[in-house]
Amino acid sequence: MTIEQMTEKLCNTLEEKRFKHSVNVMETAVKLAECHGADIEKARIAGLLHDCAKNYSKDAMYGLCANYRIDLDDVSKKEFGLLHGFVGAHILKDEYEIDDTEIFDAVYYHTIGKPDMPLLTKIIFIADCIEPMRMAPWVDDIRNEVYNDIDKALIIQLDNTIRSVLKKGTLLHTNTIDTRNYYIEKTR
Ligand SMILES: [Fe+2]
Ligand SMILES: [Fe+2]
Repeated sequence: MTIEQMTEKLCNTLEEKRFKHSVNVMETAVKLAECHGADIEKARIAGLLHDCAKNYSKDAMYGLCANYRIDLDDVSKKEFGLLHGFVGAHILKDEYEIDDTEIFDAVYYHTIGKPDMPLLTKIIFIADCIEPMRMAPWVDDIRNEVYNDIDKALIIQLDNTIRSVLKKGTLLHTNTIDTRNYYIEKTR
């Protein structure tokens, strides 16, 4: 499947705003890949498709989790918003003919992160948060740091993710804490 075919398929799958966000994440991921020396084509595909499972209903999403034997931890079971990353990574092969472990990993972890992320995973995790439509006041702090020190940018993002989870009163995934601890230790 060509990138044009993937784009067309995604456009027919997602709502307009989510599709625009996906294209923005793709463009931001390409810039980050150019700057940090990651594979540009993989960044393009992972950025474009990271939210490819975003439009599934609850029933369909839980059905796909079961079909793909995705092992959901306690928090993921209760926070529906986290599931589209796991399911999205699995449908890449069946829906978009992409069989690549780095792209799989980047899509799988884009909602929760993980310690010691591969560069592509880190890039998609950050690009999702800083694409031009993202307007939160702290996003500029990440944009200012990410072309300099991507790990420090990651900490800014994780700090703010934790703050917004606390504000919303939802469950905080343990990966978010573990990832923050890992990168604080690493950049000390
Ligand atoms: Fe997402
Ligand atoms: Fe996204």
